[in-house]
Amino acid sequence: MLIRRPSDVLPSEITSRELYQGRRHFLQQGAGLALTGAAALGMPWTAAQAAALKGFMPDKSPHPDDKPTPLKDVTSYNNYYEFGVDKDEPAKNVGAFKLRPWTVTVDGLCNKPKTFGIEDLLKFAPLEERIYRMRCVEGWSMVIPWIGFQLGALLRAVEPQGSAKFVEFTTAFDSKTMPGVKYAVLDWPYKEGLRLDEAKHPLTLLALGLYGEELLAQNGAPIRLVVPWKYGFKGAKSIVHIRLVEKMPATAWNKAAPNEYGFYSNVNPAVDHPRWSQATERRIGEFSKRKTLPFNGYSEVASLYSGMDLKKFF
Ligand code: MTE
Repeated sequence: MLIRRPSDVLPSEITSRELYQGRRHFLQQGAGLALTGAAALGMPWTAAQAAALKGFMPDKSPHPDDKPTPLKDVTSYNNYYEFGVDKDEPAKNVGAFKLRPWTVTVDGLCNKPKTFGIEDLLKFAPLEERIYRMRCVEGWSMVIPWIGFQLGALLRAVEPQGSAKFVEFTTAFDSKTMPGVKYAVLDWPYKEGLRLDEAKHPLTLLALGLYGEELLAQNGAPIRLVVPWKYGFKGAKSIVHIRLVEKMPATAWNKAAPNEYGFYSNVNPAVDHPRWSQATERRIGEFSKRKTLPFNGYSEVASLYSGMDLKKFF
């Protein structure tokens, strides 16, 4: 994102919703995960994990007509700087990154801090599928069928104290398996943050899968944040620590370029990034650009910011 480069994505075919729905039905029948996960995508879910996924709830997307972006684009055109700054590098460079064992520690200003194994998190809450629009500040967007659970459910389990106002997310750092961290592009480990009410909003997810299968490392496996009304960089990948804090946490992109990446980072067509217009976007797989909508079209979150000047607090 700090590095300017022309788009190198070729427009590609869009998966039709009918095709995807048919496939999702197949997965819900219980046949799909172990087979497709193992065969096509490397590491499969365990039987218990697949069983948990079978229970995922129907699509609750506020925009059910959005067509999911083809899986190959979702998994090969990525920003994950720990594995390289080019869009194709994460998929190529994640091979040595270990996804198990994995724990996420949730602590800070809460009554019941706890370290959760990834298996505990899978059982934690009913997994849901949410087809969300994702928009990158660089001007491209995708529609991704995530599988995850509400971050709010996890936060409720640790009982935030009254003094907790923000949530800080810290992601994995491993110089042995992440070739990108030898470059000081960002202040590692990657950190992001949300205000507590944003974190508790029902649209905010911790995702464990996409397209009916376990997340691939390049998309933030085994667990990542998804906040559909904010620019993509808020979606911290491969989270290891969630901390409830009183003060607004420092975040990786804001530290790197505070004039370019604010803390809030709500999708706002009226506030241009210094290098990229935010008025329009190109959805991967489409030729023409479309207008970018305030809050990425998720207007139900607007009340979280009533009274705030969103040009100043970008
Ligand atoms: N998380 C970590 N740990 N490292 C990163 O470099 N990049 C962010 C975000 N999460 C990033 C990260 C950016 S800039 C974007 S646009 C999204 O991940 C991209 O998510 P995707 O590749 O799954 O589309």
